[in-house]
Amino acid sequence: MSFAATVLTLSPGMFPGPLSESLAGRALAAGRWTLEARDLRGYAADRGGRVDDTPFGGGAGMVMRPDVVDAALADCADGRPSIYLTPRGRLLNQARVRALAAGPGVVLLCGRYEGVDQRVIEARGLEEVSIGDYVLAGGEPAAIVLLDACVRLLPGVMGAAESAEEESFSDGLLEYPHYTRPAVWQGREVPGVLLSGHHAAIAAWRRAAAERATRERRPDLRPSPVASAPAAP
Ligand SMILES: C[S@@+](CC[C@H](N)C(=O)[O-])C[C@H]1O[C@@H](n2cnc3c(N)ncnc32)[C@H](O)[C@@H]1O
Repeated sequence: MSFAATVLTLSPGMFPGPLSESLAGRALAAGRWTLEARDLRGYAADRGGRVDDTPFGGGAGMVMRPDVVDAALADCADGRPSIYLTPRGRLLNQARVRALAAGPGVVLLCGRYEGVDQRVIEARGLEEVSIGDYVLAGGEPAAIVLLDACVRLLPGVMGAAESAEEESFSDGLLEYPHYTRPAVWQGREVPGVLLSGHHAAIAAWRRAAAERATRERRPDLRPSPVASAPAAP
């Protein structure tokens, strides 16, 4: 059974968008996952397809109506996790991505305007997920980010050229830096240990570089204890 993604959106034309290219696009064409973008306007009760209304309590902007969103969610309720993408949500991280990728798929609700009426979020038990501490104009780019992160982890999607084993966040660390040919570029040399062919020394250098980057850039991350690091010489 492939990973099934349903996106509820006011802009179905934004899908698959960039997800039709590269790894995700090849995997989509190969049937490793499916993607369906549904227009929320199709669930509006009135003929004009009205999906939003003014906020109770006043204030700027419009709010997406609970009845419209509820009808859309009811139409694809089949046990998959249902996620509302919102800056008010918990920050998406690699652990959540891994768990989602191991499941049957996702239903993603993309907000617009000021967002979605809180009552339908609660009534449908939506998981609220943010992709970062900034505000997008709509949930669609966030849905694309989440799907890209999940799809690359699906079985058979990443080839030998790509690997999820040592990448950033795999053990609570940012990844070590990478280098390729030429060994000297614009007077800058590749760290000598990487040319040594000494596997244990390379692994130790990479672990230390990963720890240093994490300490300096993301002190909030919690590195896992060194399980597979090489023994000290
Ligand atoms: C203009 S935003 C609404 C922002 C909202 N009024 C707030 O201040 O929290 C419109 C929609 O974009 C999406 N969105 C914006 N920023 C996001 C983020 N960082 N992560 C996920 N979705 C986001 C959400 O679906 C949201 O309903």
